[in-house]
Order: sequence, then C-alpha cells, then structure tokens
Amino acid sequence: MKITIIGTGYVGLVSGTCLAEVGNDVLCLDLDPKKIDTLNAGGIPIHEPGLDELVHRNAAAGRLRFTTSIEEAVAHGTIQMIAVGTPPDEDGSADLSHVVAAARNIGRHMSAYKLVVDKSTVPVGTADRVRAAIAEELALRGANIEFSVVSNPEFLKEGAAVEDFMRPDRIVVGSDDERATKLMHTLYQPFQRNHERLIVMDVRSAELTKYAANAMLATRISFMNELANLAETLGADIELVRKGIGSDPRIGYHFLYAGCGYGGSCFPKDVTALQRTAQDHGLTLQVLAAVEEVNARQKLRLIDKVERHFGKDLQGRHFALWGLAFKPNTDDMREAPALTIINQLLRRGATVTAYDPIATAEARKHLGDTIHYADSPMAALDNADALLIVTEWKVFRSPDFTRIRKELKRPIIIDGRNLYDPAIMAEMGITYDAIGRGV
Ligand code: UGA
Repeated sequence: MKITIIGTGYVGLVSGTCLAEVGNDVLCLDLDPKKIDTLNAGGIPIHEPGLDELVHRNAAAGRLRFTTSIEEAVAHGTIQMIAVGTPPDEDGSADLSHVVAAARNIGRHMSAYKLVVDKSTVPVGTADRVRAAIAEELALRGANIEFSVVSNPEFLKEGAAVEDFMRPDRIVVGSDDERATKLMHTLYQPFQRNHERLIVMDVRSAELTKYAANAMLATRISFMNELANLAETLGADIELVRKGIGSDPRIGYHFLYAGCGYGGSCFPKDVTALQRTAQDHGLTLQVLAAVEEVNARQKLRLIDKVERHFGKDLQGRHFALWGLAFKPNTDDMREAPALTIINQLLRRGATVTAYDPIATAEARKHLGDTIHYADSPMAALDNADALLIVTEWKVFRSPDFTRIRKELKRPIIIDGRNLYDPAIMAEMGITYDAIGRGV
C-alpha cells in the first residue's frame, strides 16, 4: 500500500518505519527541513531501541522515504496518516492547529480518494474537525473528491515503541464508513498475529479510548503513590502490598509501581486535556483532578526525604543523582521528575552531580550547566552527601554497595524507584529511604 505519514515525531517515525518493514511504500512528511535532512542522512532524531536498524534497512530498500514537500506527500499515499504533535495550550487543552493544518493541506492538494487516519492523540470531536477542514478546502476549489476520516489512536510506549507497534495488544479503529474500515483491516493485517487485534468502533469512542487508557494508567500510579505514602507512615511495605493486590487478576501486576511521580509526553498532557474536554462540556472529572494533584506532590517526595535527613537548608550540601530521563530506555526529559527534584535541590542551595546512561545531552537542554554531569554512576558519587535515585535504569540495579558506602560522605540512599531490598541495605550499613517502605 502507498502510505503517507504526516509528522516524523515519535509516533509518526515509528509507525512509518514499521509499516515500511512489512512491505508498504511509505513517505514521511515533516515541515522541519532539519529533521528531514537528518533522516535523509541516516540520522535518527529520537532514541528508541531497534529503530535505527529498521529505518536504515527500509530506507535502503526504498520503501521508506522522507520529504518536506506537501504536494508530493499528499499525492503519494491513498492512506494519509496524521501523526503531528498536539501540545497543550495555555489552558491545558490540546492544541489542534497542526492537525487541522495537515487536514487542510490534504484537502488543498488531493486529486483522488484519500483515507485520512488520525493517529495523533486528539480530543473527542477532532475527526469531525478534520473532515470539515478537508471538505472546506475541496469546496474552495470546487473539487468533488471522496475521502474518509478514521480515528486510529496509538498506544506505543517510549523505549518499547517498535515492539509495541509490531506486536500490538489491540488496534483501535474508529470508523463510520465501510470502505475505510476495509482499508484499515488490510493495513493492519500483517500485525494481527494469532488472533484479531482490530477493535472497530465509532469515531468518538475511539478518540475517547486513547485518553481513557492513559488516564486509567495515570490513576493507578497516583493511587499507588498515595498508598505508598500511607504505608510509610503505618510501617507497612508498599512492595509487598503491590504483590498482594497484583495477584488478583482483576487488578493485575502491571503499572502498580509506586515511585517519584509519572512524567513523559503523554500522561501529564493527556490527564490535563481530558479534564479540559470535560470542562468544555460542563462536567468535572474529580478523580483525574486528584490524580494530577497527587502526582505533582509525589514529584517532591524525594525532597521531603532529603529534608528529613539534612534539614531545610541545603547550602553546602552536594547530592549524587542517578537517572534523568522520565523513564528508562529513553532520553526523553519531558515532564521528568528529575527536573523538579533538581530544581528544588538547587533552590535550597545544594549542588548536584547527575548520571544518566543516555539522557545527559537532552537534560543539558533543560538544565544547562546548573548541575554537573558524570560519565559513570560511581563518578557521580564523588564528594556527595547522599545518593538519590530517580530513574530505574537496569545498570543501577546491582551496584557495588561497598563502594557506594565508601564514596558517600554519609551512607544514605534515597530511592525514588524502590530498586533495592531494605534488609540488604541495613546489613550493608546503608541508610535506605525508599518510597512506601515503612517497615
Ligand atoms: C504512555 C502509555 O503507557 C502508552 O500506552 C501510550 O501510548 C503513551 O503514553 C502515549 O500516549 O503516547 P509512555 O509515556 O511512553 O507511554 O511511558 P510509560 O511507560 O507509560 O510511563 C509513564 C510514566 O509513568 C513514567 O514516568 C513512569 O516512570 C511512570 N510509571 C509507570 C510509574 O511511576 N509506575 C508504574 O507502575 C508505571
């Protein structure tokens, strides 16, 4: 099939590449010439395991190409997939200007039937706006060409994006028209594996499904974080409670990890946007308001702990910090708890040396030279009063504790990701302050 992907961000680049991998002829459009130059020169603008190899292989085979030409892009694909960004407006609602501009461009330049697929995370009702924008452009030039608009939200996770796309749990398609549904079935046939993954529904339900999924996951995290704080006060261990409740299949083990708050480009933005959508319709989503509030508070949890050990005035204190990215296997720093934690430490007069396996360059864009960057976990400990753990990179899971104890001025680990066994820490003579572990 001939497919055009509009927008080469996370979702667009991964989707386009995976669709090329199964044999489609894919053209990716981005209006940023720097991005397209980078891609055409073999560079990958994001860090995503497995993506480089896939892009190179499909580009070399001629199945994956990149362009800045809108005309060429609209002419290319029968399927036009919109995967542009929907950043938050000042009021928290999703900014749809890029989505609508993409729709207008399709309407302006199309000369044959197009199936327009909304892949960006967009509020309920966006497909109608996309349809209206295309129809308006067609009317302006007196053209009468058929087109369909479907919603096809993406559920991939950063750090596992290629795997998530190639082996999806489900493929949600919101479609109100037969021809479009058939084409979507054909498009996703290679990804069905052993059973039907396509869930077809009306457009509005599909649009809401995307937000509902992220809001539900964010809710689980905030709920666990709140319980963790209670467990700490009560002298209980949230890690045991997690196992105890996760064993109930109605609850399940996934996404039950207490920590120092959720970040990233999706949960914070989508939780706010869904509340905004509700407000626009005269409703208040009380649970989500609490989810957001608890998360904002949780990002400061490590600071509470630092104050517990060192007092409020941190002048002259120096902290080692492991993990900058909002989660492992990505260099994404958007809404990363590390940013909040570091800013609070600096405001209180402390200095920080951080180590992250890959996010240092990204972090520098946010933090500049306000902190020091180490090139190994152990190098970050030099002269530090204590160690703070913010991201659960694998490399932090089994460090040389004897060396940590020796390097730190006081053997204190404040762990925002519950990586270690408190009993072992006690044996090692390390003061271990983690999330929700009051035993
Ligand atoms: C999330 C969803 O998981 C994807 O399904 C969705 O497609 C994506 O948003 C999106 O809307 O595009 P992502 O933001 O890449 O994916 O990252 P997650 O793995 O979901 O992690 C989000 C945050 O939650 C991280 O800060 C992580 O540390 C935190 N988290 C996750 C916890 O604190 N506890 C957990 O148990 C799980």
